[in-house]
Amino acid sequence: MKISSKIISIEAREILDSRGNPTVEVELETSLGIFKSSVPSGASKGKYEALELRDGEKRYQGKGVLKAVKKINQVIAPKLREKEVVNQKEIDRVLINLDGTKNKSLLGANSILGVSLAVARAGAKAKDLPLYQYLAQLSQNENQFKIPFACFNVINGGVHAGNELDFQEFMIVPQEKIFSKNLQIAVEIYHQLKKIIKKKYGNLATNVGDEGGFAPPLKKPQEAIELILKASKNLGYLKKIKIILDIAASQFFENGQYKTRFGIFKGKELVNYYLNLIKKYPILGLEDPFSEDDWENWKLLREKVKKKILIIGDDLLATNPERIKMANEKNACNGAIIKINQIGTLTEAIEAVKLAQSFGWKIIVSHRSGETTDDFIADFSVGIGADFIKAGAPARGERVVKYNRLLKIEKELQSL
Ligand code: PGA
Ligand code: ZN
Repeated sequence: MKISSKIISIEAREILDSRGNPTVEVELETSLGIFKSSVPSGASKGKYEALELRDGEKRYQGKGVLKAVKKINQVIAPKLREKEVVNQKEIDRVLINLDGTKNKSLLGANSILGVSLAVARAGAKAKDLPLYQYLAQLSQNENQFKIPFACFNVINGGVHAGNELDFQEFMIVPQEKIFSKNLQIAVEIYHQLKKIIKKKYGNLATNVGDEGGFAPPLKKPQEAIELILKASKNLGYLKKIKIILDIAASQFFENGQYKTRFGIFKGKELVNYYLNLIKKYPILGLEDPFSEDDWENWKLLREKVKKKILIIGDDLLATNPERIKMANEKNACNGAIIKINQIGTLTEAIEAVKLAQSFGWKIIVSHRSGETTDDFIADFSVGIGADFIKAGAPARGERVVKYNRLLKIEKELQSL
């Protein structure tokens, strides 16, 4: 049977994200219903990311997105009316061409993404498939479905928190085979950590950062890691977890040096600092250990660590196939953060995934620090066969909505 499900209308509006900043929500209508999507936003954005269009006027301190909304309602919607939603590639191509710039600066990646993801939701419905299965089809992923390992942010620093930790994210990655068990472990450690922080630093220290991890008054990364290990040990989970750190080093890279509050490092010194951390702690991976243009030190670290340690590019790659190719040529990393809003369309994000997978890299699907309650990335991570997902702490609505969706998918997979 030929499936026909055409776009009747697309309507965008301005809503708020988890930080209280405006963002874009899209509603797309077909004969099968109304399909929604909303767009996240980063705080520690990489310089190679596609452009997020903001109004720059007085309201919302320049952060309004009425221009982006207008682009959807007045430019994109008329072009896509009557298009078949199952033709994701073709629709994304129309969006890319309509914009016509290299970094989506005409329409804004936020306008484009909102539409691209709503189209995918409508396409899944047209094919009568759960979203993750439809996304597997779109990405030609023929492997058995699996829920990725989740990286739970339990301590926040960097631009996501008001403390003095320079490293941005301290994540635990429970190692059980079943996602729901890993979620349980993460939640138990999270609450144990809260107790330890409260006892050691007082009640105020249990405040959280943008992604829901605690933001205690620490300076040294080792202190944060020790707290996490203590919490894990108290519960008998020490052997069951690994740690991934998102250093987000571009944020403290100045004039060729890495300037942190626990010391100033030249690139090579930072390489040694990381090697010591890896020796001492159960570290599985380091994300953005250097700034996005410091290829030399990325390469050096890669050469010095064992293959199983993940050196992960986020700002470095910006979910951009060209950057991923460059990073492979320079042997800079073996893991790719995939954030669909860094590139703007679903099709391009899938292309980035396929390319990184073809190099044998691990794939980590990621939320942004400014999130909405859209759970698209949960389905996306399963659909494309990601190895990991990071969606923040196992707390706060905009974070747990992703984990809760994975719980549902896990149940569904058990009965397939
Ligand atoms: P961002 O941070 O969403 O603020 O860019 C997340 C990350 O760096 O992984
Ligand atoms: Zn990052």
